[in-house]
Amino acid sequence: MRRTTAWMFMFVCVAVAGCSKPESGHGSTTTTAPGAIAFPDSWPYPSADTGVTAAHGMVATDAPIATHVGATVLRNGGNAVDAAIATAFALAVVLPAAGNLGGGGFLVVHMGDGREAALDFRERAPGTATRDMYIGANGHADDRSITGPLAAGVPGSVAGLWEAHERFGSRPWAELVAPAIALAEQGFVVDSDFAGAIRGDSARLAHFPASAALFLPHGRVPLAGDRWRDPELAAVLRRISASGQKGFYTGRTAELIAAEMRRVHGIMTEKDLAAYQAKWRDPIEFTYRGHKVISMPPPSSGGLTLALVAHELARFDVRAAPWHSPREINRFAEAMRRGFAVRNGLLGDPDFVTIPTARLLSQQYADSLSKSIAEGHATPSASIHVGGGATAEKQQTTHFSVMDGQGGAAALTTTLNGGFGSAVVVPGTGLLLNDEMDDFAAEPGRPNMFGLVQGEANAIAPGKRMLSSMTPTIVLGDDGKPMLVTGAQGGPTIITTTYQIMSNVIDYDMNIGTAVSAPRLHHQHLPDSLYYERGGLTKATLDSLTAMGYATSPQSPTGDLGYAASILRRNGVVHGASDPRVHGSAEGY
Ligand code: GLY
Repeated sequence: MRRTTAWMFMFVCVAVAGCSKPESGHGSTTTTAPGAIAFPDSWPYPSADTGVTAAHGMVATDAPIATHVGATVLRNGGNAVDAAIATAFALAVVLPAAGNLGGGGFLVVHMGDGREAALDFRERAPGTATRDMYIGANGHADDRSITGPLAAGVPGSVAGLWEAHERFGSRPWAELVAPAIALAEQGFVVDSDFAGAIRGDSARLAHFPASAALFLPHGRVPLAGDRWRDPELAAVLRRISASGQKGFYTGRTAELIAAEMRRVHGIMTEKDLAAYQAKWRDPIEFTYRGHKVISMPPPSSGGLTLALVAHELARFDVRAAPWHSPREINRFAEAMRRGFAVRNGLLGDPDFVTIPTARLLSQQYADSLSKSIAEGHATPSASIHVGGGATAEKQQTTHFSVMDGQGGAAALTTTLNGGFGSAVVVPGTGLLLNDEMDDFAAEPGRPNMFGLVQGEANAIAPGKRMLSSMTPTIVLGDDGKPMLVTGAQGGPTIITTTYQIMSNVIDYDMNIGTAVSAPRLHHQHLPDSLYYERGGLTKATLDSLTAMGYATSPQSPTGDLGYAASILRRNGVVHGASDPRVHGSAEGY
């Protein structure tokens, strides 16, 4: 079932005539020269946020309890991968909307001894999945890819964490699973984020008896201050602790998942579970302004699209344009537009689709895209064709960053896809199944509910991994050691957020707190809108962008453009920042 992707038929046709004089940085009284960044007065987060500092190592996540678990592993002598494993298991308990055992993700590592690797533990379509399985009676895809048993891909998280430990772990496996078992068994105090997340998805969760019993005890959303326990999840974790990968994909847990699938007419089987393997992939590597960048290859689109955007912008002297001036935004928006056109049309699971990675990573290819950028003008997306396609992924992912004291780093992004995934808790397990099947193109070549057309490269097939945007990324410093560990939550905005953190640090000398707090932008080719966070651009800047031809679309500054827990090592000091858009934390030693 290998298919050749039609990159050779790619053509870029640009309707905008010629290049006009570059815009000046006028129109904003709050953007400033590199090194002295000021945010608009309307922006809710501080520009002087320096983050948390430490001498040796750091963990930054979206959930303080999980951060503390990871930082404790570092303090006890564990390496970055050990800390990442313990943190990921803890997130499965304390952040059930996104942390998971029933989902999947990606890990990028740079070990203290210089070894680098990228691990794919993305979910796979079950063995009897079909290309048109979500097409309903009216001939169009319905929401069975979002809620309910058919939405779930075969989970990859436990296999990924096991595989990471087999290759890079230095502490005993059981020691890394133990904090999650204790959290699930003994419980923890619910905060307003935890309660709010359940409230937001309570109607979906109420639909499934085991989900309602777990998340809506006594028929109500837990209150901040309540104690939360998940003893059945603790039992699943105990089997994982005792038997590793096999403790999840075979035996009691696999039987319970398969039995529930049979009962509710899902299609995932014990055979699908037993066959699941995480895969080591060659990391995407490229250079950005002299720094080596290591990121995630397909089936995540993250690393390749990040490289495309970065390479497109290489032709410009980014620092010469003040941060968030209309001129800088114009260039960035056009690079995103073109990068996503390629991403949406050509990328998919590399085990099923031939992806011309070397060509896409070449400067020559990026130049062929960026030469049509007409400064001072928005290029209509309709005039850029790269095999067709667009993206409409869910946003409820979680990313965390780890740096150890031995020169090692781990960037891990994991998800159930939408908040609480498919909303299906498997009875007897306390674990949620993902709704990752929705990241496939359910109707290739036809507009989905958002009016978007997704590409054939990402069509459903048995055993295939769905395309992702997760972008766990490590940037090396001049000494060849990890300088920046970053990545994000937020569907397709993950990629553009990751670029902005990288550029904020490297191009504009921001500290990590400022880089993460800074207002963000996003363009994904289709819809043809430049997303910005409300309050993040001045009226004068917005007017300039409108004059260039941009349709600007305000988004909530509390997370519509994602969260990006990140770590920066600068001048021998480690700085960590969780994202102020969520109540996470950074903790070092
Ligand atoms: N489910 C979101 C992503 O994989 O990018």
